[in-house]
Amino acid sequence: MRIFMDTANIEEIRRGVTMGVVDGVTTNPSLVAKEGIEYRDRVLEICEVVQGPVSAECISETADALVEEARRIAEWHEHVVVKIAMTEPGLEAIRRVSAEGIRVNTTLIFSPNQALLAARAGATYVSPFIGRLNDIGHDGMAVVRESVKILENFHLPTQVLAASIRLPRDVTEAALVGSHVATIPADVLFQMVKHPLTDQGIDRFLADAQKYNAV
Ligand code: E4P
Repeated sequence: MRIFMDTANIEEIRRGVTMGVVDGVTTNPSLVAKEGIEYRDRVLEICEVVQGPVSAECISETADALVEEARRIAEWHEHVVVKIAMTEPGLEAIRRVSAEGIRVNTTLIFSPNQALLAARAGATYVSPFIGRLNDIGHDGMAVVRESVKILENFHLPTQVLAASIRLPRDVTEAALVGSHVATIPADVLFQMVKHPLTDQGIDRFLADAQKYNAV
């Protein structure tokens, strides 16, 4: 499973990339709004740091406007993947821009049927939102699992990108059900590195190493 970071914070992204495990980044208007910077400027900064796909979201609401916006955003940088929300005009726009070779991440996916439609329209990625489904008492991971299975059944090339991740365990489960990608908030990614027994083990080895270094 490939690992993307779900943040628009450049320092977090630099730290993740330096760790050597980050294959891409996803942003959305809410994440960029927190940074107090122009969307395009931040996406370009991220594209220079990450050697992989960087999702940037379209906000238009009609198919024609989405197509125009997607073309414009895709021109920003070769790493850019445009995000288009799962709506009827969104599907039309996905079909039209995918045919031009623009990569699309279909966002706000909350059911396997939505994932199937976006895949048939030509999306490169479909993003089921696990946390937001769990928040309303649904089983977010079931949407990831069923979407993976449906795409596999019909050999569709679209990749499932598990999004709205809140916990390290969400990442484990996404990997177990075969999600192609997980986009992970920085705090969750850095938590994944840690285990108390690892820290304890290092302390013990260091203490024991003192014994022979002292000889
Ligand atoms: C990523 O592409 C999504 O925009 C993001 O994972 C949404 O996460 P949230 O539900 O925590 O806002």
